[in-house]
Amino acid sequence: MPHKLLIANWKANPESPEEARALFEAENNPGVIICPPAVYLEELHANGAQDVFWEGGAHTGEVSPEMLKELGVTHVLVGHSERRAIGETDEQINQKLKALLNAGMTPVLLIGEPEKSAARSDYLIDQLTRDLEGVSADGAAKIMFCYEPVWAIGTHAANLDDVVSAIHEMQSILDKMYGFKPSMLYGGSVNEKNLADFLNHPEISGAVVGGASLKAEEFKNMIEIATKL
Ligand code: PGA
Repeated sequence: MPHKLLIANWKANPESPEEARALFEAENNPGVIICPPAVYLEELHANGAQDVFWEGGAHTGEVSPEMLKELGVTHVLVGHSERRAIGETDEQINQKLKALLNAGMTPVLLIGEPEKSAARSDYLIDQLTRDLEGVSADGAAKIMFCYEPVWAIGTHAANLDDVVSAIHEMQSILDKMYGFKPSMLYGGSVNEKNLADFLNHPEISGAVVGGASLKAEEFKNMIEIATKL
């Protein structure tokens, strides 16, 4: 089992259950979290989901934490920038985090600035404080934090020094809030060529992988790289 975690975020791919099954069979491995679209969760018995609503009941189109849990999902992405971009607010992210923690599941909270700019700190502070409002230290300790700069998604990865400095900032914000400094995941154009650079860093505990997780051969190579570290 890899010591470092790989989380595959398939986004709205692939188009058919057959393709989803083939991709899942190629990628499913201990220590890997695979987040397929919700429609494939039941058939694949996947352990990850890309989103959740904070409760069941009269919420057309939504999926509750209990439903995901019932299917065997353990980890759920929360606050992905593609969801923030279509209007998901920090208040909604906060409710999702709390609902997942209440259900005993692990939220993977994605944090990052929209543009490469000097305002990075402001975004990190703002997102972390709003998203975690009212979350206890015990709860926060159960969350996996991922630094995922929006400008690095689907383009080219941030450089390692910038990632480490952003992670240090996030750790010091969390340290002020809760008194602990968790290791963090990195996301944003991680592929088989740059994975080892990120994972070799002691404070980076894993990677969230989008595009490269849709390429079965590449992702299998990435699992091998993570396993050898
Ligand atoms: P990417 O996506 O690896 O294609 O940049 C990562 C993500 O959006 O989580």
